[in-house]
Amino acid sequence: MIYNNDSNDNELVISSVQQPSMDPFFIFGLLLLALFLSVSFLLYLSRRAYASLPNPPPGKLGFPVVGESLEFLSTRRKGVPEKFVFDRMAKYCRDVFKTSILGATTAVMCGTAGNKFLFSNEKKHVTGWWPKSVELIFPTSLEKSSNEESIMMKQFLPNFLKPEPLQKYIPVMDIITQRHFNTSWEGRNVVKVFPTAAEFTTLLACRVFLSVEDPIEVAKISEPFEILAAGFLSIPINLPGTKLNKAVKAADQIRDAIVQILKRRRVEIAENKANGMQDIASMLLTTPTNAGFYMTEAHISEKILGMIVGGRDTASTVITFIIKYLAENPEIYNKVYEEQMEVVKSKKPGELLNWEDVQKMKYSWCVACEAMRLAPPVQGGFKVAINDFVYSGFNIRKGWKLYWSAIATHMNPEYFPEPEKFNPSRFEGKGPVPYSFVPFGGGPRMCPGKEYSRLETLVFMHHLVTRYNWEKVYPTEKITVDPMPFPVNGLPIRLIPHKHQ
Ligand SMILES: *[C@@H]1O[C@H](CO)[C@@H](O)[C@H](O)[C@H]1NC(C)=O
Repeated sequence: MIYNNDSNDNELVISSVQQPSMDPFFIFGLLLLALFLSVSFLLYLSRRAYASLPNPPPGKLGFPVVGESLEFLSTRRKGVPEKFVFDRMAKYCRDVFKTSILGATTAVMCGTAGNKFLFSNEKKHVTGWWPKSVELIFPTSLEKSSNEESIMMKQFLPNFLKPEPLQKYIPVMDIITQRHFNTSWEGRNVVKVFPTAAEFTTLLACRVFLSVEDPIEVAKISEPFEILAAGFLSIPINLPGTKLNKAVKAADQIRDAIVQILKRRRVEIAENKANGMQDIASMLLTTPTNAGFYMTEAHISEKILGMIVGGRDTASTVITFIIKYLAENPEIYNKVYEEQMEVVKSKKPGELLNWEDVQKMKYSWCVACEAMRLAPPVQGGFKVAINDFVYSGFNIRKGWKLYWSAIATHMNPEYFPEPEKFNPSRFEGKGPVPYSFVPFGGGPRMCPGKEYSRLETLVFMHHLVTRYNWEKVYPTEKITVDPMPFPVNGLPIRLIPHKHQ
């Protein structure tokens, strides 16, 4: 789950980065003020637009400015984010309803038909939309990508994140994962899963994207990253001292650190001291695009920053929920353990994991998918209508925000019988119906980091279950969604090492 922060590839993925320790009511107070000052006029205009359009989708815009944001946020806080959509589908219409959330008058498109419509009408009726805070942190998300060059760039990076080029990084992922377990798990009684998983995903990204392994160099990227994460979906006020302002500065700091690494790498490659294939950044430095030019260091650093932002807390969330559900379902844990031990038995001692091994981890991947179904890190996303059109018999006007909700199909018994139940076998055989399971979004803007995150998750699961069993420290730890699903205590677990280790 990685952002494609390309110019013109600016889809809002609403739960991008964990914002730890922020009181939602405090934020909400500030949000209200900011919105009142800056957005109310726009909102007034868009309300008028709704009013003047015959036959808009049914639904309520709620209080002025605030809209229905309070309820949207409170269902998340209570860990039942799907309730917001389900209540309105029952009350107004099963296909589409209008609301006003986070300062935007929005049509929520529901069910597999809604997902399908939004994912397959890119550039025809809809396009991605970022909130202001994201635009300020990633100025290139504003760039209009009409020119040849940026269109090329957009196609270019995902090529390096496809299964085939990523295969050769599996042994590297294996070494980094082992090292992570050696330093952050081995010998410990209790591990707090979420922060530990975030440490792992950052370390792995630094190695696979940049060949950075030295803890001091990793810290240059990971420390400002915490600040960036906190401001990523913050209120859109860029004044000294605000979270957003700090995030914008932190992003610049990381970009600079990456540019330094790239400059050094370019020299090393020219002097044959580094391999042009050793990491994603080096491949981007040494591979010309189809049009024959090379990407600049600034452009590559922007890409890498986007990948780390998009990939870090999303993957940590997936790992956290896999560990939670395996603790709660010992029979499923046993099946994963057996599958992974088969892989261990098929290898020589010390031999690193490779592509064939990962292909054998089928049940483990079903478990990961089921964790992403119940707790999708990306709960949904915004788009914007680029022309007037009719959807399900209702008029949608150009400029309206459109929202797709992953959690609303994931938790719908029509697509997933007994949706509350953790049941990885749903993903065996033909699997879920099309457009019902959408943790990576879909269509041309589907998360380009899907395969990277699959490999990272499976290699992690391999070392986790072959080393340990575990139990939750807090058996009934609550889940909240802010903006990603999150066990409120960070999921501390008690480790039970296997005897054979
Ligand atoms: C992890 O620790 C084990 C046991 O001490 C050792 O054999 C292995 O080489 C270590 N792996 C890494 C990558 O540091």
